[in-house]
Amino acid sequence: MNASSKVIIAIDGPAASGKGTLARRLAAHLGLRYLDTGSLYRAIGLTVLKAGQDPTNEAQALAAAKILNLDAFSAEELRSEVAGVAASHVAFLKPVRAELLDFQRKFAEEPGPDVKGAILDGRDIGTVVCKDTADVKIFVEASLETRIQRRIKELQDRGESFKERHVQADMEARDKRDRDRSVAPLKPADDAWLLDTSTLNADEAFAVALAHIQETGTL
Ligand code: DC
Repeated sequence: MNASSKVIIAIDGPAASGKGTLARRLAAHLGLRYLDTGSLYRAIGLTVLKAGQDPTNEAQALAAAKILNLDAFSAEELRSEVAGVAASHVAFLKPVRAELLDFQRKFAEEPGPDVKGAILDGRDIGTVVCKDTADVKIFVEASLETRIQRRIKELQDRGESFKERHVQADMEARDKRDRDRSVAPLKPADDAWLLDTSTLNADEAFAVALAHIQETGTL
């Protein structure tokens, strides 16, 4: 549990489960500072690609992690499929994950004077980054079919070209890399509350999660 009077909320889940939208809305509603930890891995993946290097190469990915600069990329670049795939490769590498730990923990534990606390979303916030400090842990799930349809809608909305079978293959490959890796694999923490958003829209998921947080008496 978090020793300070500030609150820490951990939100984990697979790609396109709805965790990012949920975390952003909870942050705005509850007055919490928000960190999308996937964007850190995305920025590292893009840095490697822009240097003409290989996201699966440990030395190259670690060098990019050490010079991480989120401001070097637009939100559109960070959200692209290319960034997502590169991110899942660099996130597979233990030294890269270790390099990001301090930054994420500091963000969670020292969110600043003007907020009530922090909310972080990712894959390992409840199991590693804020394992012992999170006041509330939520693991967001959704069926593979639902997540593929959400990702397709996101790509259409952004005007990105895609082939449906590629979206499915990429999602399955990323799920497998995230879940099967030896370091910080994607899985619910033992003390996480599970939220399946397969049949919920964003408003419904927000309402259910908010009710859960209020029931815990954290805020
Ligand atoms: O949540 P996202 O799609 O932006 O994440 C991109 C990739 O980064 C994802 O495939 C797994 C990785 N990731 C991770 O391993 N740990 C985190 N805390 C966040 C993201």
